[in-house]
Amino acid sequence: MLTNVEHIGIAVRDIATSNELFTRLLNVAPYKSETVESENVTTSFFRVNQTKIELLEATSPDSPIAKFLEKKGEGIHHLAFEVDDIHAEMERLKKEGFILLNETPKRGADNKLVCFLHPKGTNGVLVELCQEIKE
Ligand code: CO
Repeated sequence: MLTNVEHIGIAVRDIATSNELFTRLLNVAPYKSETVESENVTTSFFRVNQTKIELLEATSPDSPIAKFLEKKGEGIHHLAFEVDDIHAEMERLKKEGFILLNETPKRGADNKLVCFLHPKGTNGVLVELCQEIKE
């Protein structure tokens, strides 16, 4: 089951500059900064009440973020929904005909298991499913 929008991902060219910008915009400093080696991205997270914003910067030219910036420029990159059971939700969406970008959940930023849906099937919106890893 999808529960709520967990965060909104924004692709940026320079995360240091954008950290400053979003700190001024949201009036709060990022609570976390993290590099996800498997995705070649550096992320930082801001939280305003229930709402989280994830900034993403490419760490290499073959990063999905580098490709996105090249094609579309800076801006909203993905919409992330929290789910209570990522395996069940992936199964359900697959049956509904959505294209999953990974067949098994992978470890994303901010201690989450994640799966992305192809934007081709979702009106151009890259959708992320995420579930908190509880250990
Ligand atoms: Co995300």
